[in-house]
Amino acid sequence: MNKHIHPIFDHFLQRADREHRLMQHSKVLWLTGLSGSGKSTIAQHLERRLYNEGYFPQALDGDNIRSGINNNLDFSDEGRRENIRRIAEVSKLYLNSGIITINSFISPTIAIREMARQVIGEEDFIEIYINAPLEVCEARDVKGLYKKARAGEIKGFTGIDAPYEPPANPALEVRTDQLGLHDCVRAIFEFIEPIIKYRRA
Ligand code: ADX
Repeated sequence: MNKHIHPIFDHFLQRADREHRLMQHSKVLWLTGLSGSGKSTIAQHLERRLYNEGYFPQALDGDNIRSGINNNLDFSDEGRRENIRRIAEVSKLYLNSGIITINSFISPTIAIREMARQVIGEEDFIEIYINAPLEVCEARDVKGLYKKARAGEIKGFTGIDAPYEPPANPALEVRTDQLGLHDCVRAIFEFIEPIIKYRRA
């Protein structure tokens, strides 16, 4: 750290103060999975469900991150790593703001997610595997990108010619090819509710 920067964080409001104001415990819910596995759709519905139940969530995904703060990054290994690093740093700020962050990014490798876990902190990083087989994601092809990847119009597409490494030990896994959207959202909500529910100090 630069010696002219003096941390004075003790004088600022603490995370616990803001958690108390918001009456919740902040966490980072990290949804990982292939493109088309359902991450963003689940994140949207989960965010709404949390909000309706009185919580204060914030979803981050490609639409608000890759078009803004990360609009200078590509899909090379380095680009993805930097994408996830910045998202993890932003999530850490939200964490300190007492907010429940729902991240939906492919975050394709174990190493990339491990880096995010380190930035955010073991305690606060909740890895949720949004799992659908590649064939199912490709058949859905919501954005038409698998077709382009197969045709060689997109290089280095996750699952086609770039790796996806499933989490070895996620906090939770939902199979979106086996459960409907609402069951997936309910499973995640019921898993996280005891963790985020405010407990008086
Ligand atoms: S990550 O690998 O860096 O975590 P991120 O979740 O931000 O990826 O973005 C993934 C989205 O970008 C995909 O759902 C897809 O719409 C689009 N995309 C564009 N190019 C690629 C690519 N080469 N691989 C994967 N997704 C891509």
